[in-house]
Amino acid sequence: MKSFDVIVIGGGPGGYIAAIRAAQLGFNTACIDEWKNDKGGPAPGGTCTNVGCIPSKALLQSSEHYEHAGKHFAEHGIEVKGLGLDLGKMLARKNTVVKQNNDGILFLFKKNKVTFFHGRGSFVKAAEGGYEIKAGEESITGKHIILATGSNARALPGAPFDEETILSNDGALRIQGVPKKLALIGSGVIGLEMGSVWRRLGAEVTVLEALPTFLGAVDEQIAKEAKKAFDKQGLKIELGVKVGEIKSGKKGVSIAWTNAKGEAQTLDADKLIISIGRVPNTIGLNAEAVGLKLDERGAIAVDAECKTSLPNVWAVGDVVRGPMLAHKAEEEGVAVAERIAGQHGHVNFNTIPWVIYTSPEIAWVGQTEQQLKAAGVKYKAGTFPFMANGRARALGDTTGMVKFLADATTDEILGVHMVGPQVSELISEAVVAMEFKASSEDIARICHAHPSLSEATKEAALAVDKRTLNF
Ligand code: FAD
Ligand code: NAI
Repeated sequence: MKSFDVIVIGGGPGGYIAAIRAAQLGFNTACIDEWKNDKGGPAPGGTCTNVGCIPSKALLQSSEHYEHAGKHFAEHGIEVKGLGLDLGKMLARKNTVVKQNNDGILFLFKKNKVTFFHGRGSFVKAAEGGYEIKAGEESITGKHIILATGSNARALPGAPFDEETILSNDGALRIQGVPKKLALIGSGVIGLEMGSVWRRLGAEVTVLEALPTFLGAVDEQIAKEAKKAFDKQGLKIELGVKVGEIKSGKKGVSIAWTNAKGEAQTLDADKLIISIGRVPNTIGLNAEAVGLKLDERGAIAVDAECKTSLPNVWAVGDVVRGPMLAHKAEEEGVAVAERIAGQHGHVNFNTIPWVIYTSPEIAWVGQTEQQLKAAGVKYKAGTFPFMANGRARALGDTTGMVKFLADATTDEILGVHMVGPQVSELISEAVVAMEFKASSEDIARICHAHPSLSEATKEAALAVDKRTLNF
C-alpha cells in the first residue's frame, strides 16, 4: 500500500493549493479528486474551475463584449452592423478556458511532485500513525489528511434540479439557447452574476428574493447604488417575496409567489435558476467510519486552525465555516500545510475581499457602515464618485463610487466599499492597506498614477478628511 505524509481529498482551490504547498514544504503528498470532464477524464479545480468562478467570469466577459458592441460602441463612434450572437461558440470558448485551467492544475501537480488520484476519496479506518484512505480503486495511507470536499448548490424543496428547466449554477452556465424569459430565485452573488450574463444576451430576467433588502451584507449606500444601475439595465429584482409552488413541464416553468405586499403572483419562464446558497459537501467521505464530527449546518466542524475533531485530520474551504470563496479556501489550504510543517500559517478573516463581477462591479473588504453603527464604533466616512474621475470618463463608465470608513480617533481603515468599473482589481489596494493597518491618510498621501481609476481610491481616502481635490 502506498503511503503519504499528506493526503488531500478534493482538488478544488482549497485542496489543490494545500497539496502544492504541502509538497513545496517537502511532504510526500497525494491529492484525490473525483470531478470528471465530458470524456470521463480528470478535471481538477473543483466547483471554482468547472462550474463556478472561472466559467462564470468567461461568460460575464463574453456577454459584456456583446452588450458593449450592441449598446455602447456607438458612443465611441464605432458602428457595428449586423451584430450577431453565436452562443455555441461563446459556450465552447468558456469550455476551453475551463480546460486550460484543469490542465494547468495537472501540470502544477507534476511540477510539484504531487501524486494525483482520479476518483473518490473516502475514509476506510484509522491506521497505525494515520488513516487508510480509499483513493478511487486503490487503498493508500496518510499521516495527515486534509479534507477539501467543497459544497453543492442548495435545492428548493419540491423543485429538484433537472439541469434542463430547473437549473443550479451548473446548468446555468450551459443553457443551449438564450431563454426568452428567465427566472431566478435568490438575488445573491450567483443570482446577480448569472442574471447579468443572460440579460446581456437577450433574456428577460426576473429575480425573486426573499429578503426585503437588496444585498443585505453589502454596505447600504453601495447596495443602493448598485440596485439603481441594475434597475436601469432592466434586471427585474423583486424583494421580500415568498416563493410557493413551482411547476415544471416541457414548455417551461411556472412559479407561484407572493410579493412584498402579500399579493399572489405567477411567474412563467422558459428556465429557472435557483441560487439560494450552497451546502457543504461531505457525501462519500465515509466520515462515520472514523467518527468525524459535523456541525449543525452539516459542515465539517473545525477550530480556528482548521483542525477537525480527529487527530491529524484538517478541513478547509467551502466544507467548513466562513465565507464560501475560492481565495478563502486557498488561504486556508496554505495555512494548514504550513501548520503541518510546524509553521504558523494564518488567515485573516477581517481582510478577505468580496467581489461581485456584475457591471458595475461591487467589491468590499472589512466592515460596512451598518456593522460599525451596530457595534457602536465611532467612524468617519469618505466617498468619491467615478463621475469625477478622468479615467472613468474616458472609459465611458462613470457609475458608482469608492467609499472609505476609518476609525474616528485613530484614522485606521475599517472598511472599503466600491461599486463601479474594474473595482475587482481596485479592491486589492484596500486589502493591502488594511492588512498593514494603514490609516486613510496613508492612502491619501500615496502617489497614484494619472489618469487611473485608482485615483478614486486616493480621493475617497482624502474625502475622509473632507479634502478631495477633484470633487
Ligand atoms: P470545491 O471547489 O467545491 O472543490 C471540491 C472538490 O472536491 C471538487 O472537485 C469535488 O469533486 C471534490 N470532491 C468532493 N468530495 C470528494 C471525495 N469524497 N473524493 C474525491 N473528490 C471529492 N468564489 C470566488 O472567490 N470568486 C468567484 O468569482 C466565485 N464565483 C463562483 C461562481 C459560481 C457559479 C459558484 C457556484 C461559486 C463561485 N465561487 C466563487 C465560490 C467558489 O467556487 C468556492 O468557494 C470554491 O470553489 C471552494 O473551493 P473548495 O476547494 O473548498 O471546494
Ligand atoms: P448567496 O448566499 O450569495 O445568495 C442567496 C440569496 O438567496 C440570498 O439573497 C437569500 O436571501 C436568497 N434566498 C434564500 N432562500 C430563498 C428563498 N427560499 N426564496 C428566495 N430567495 C431566497 O448564494 P448564491 O448566490 O447561491 O451563491 C453561493 C455562494 O457562492 C455565495 O455566497 C458565494 O460565497 C459564492 N459565490 C461567489 C461569487 C463571487 O465571489 N463573485 C460568485 C458566485 C458565488
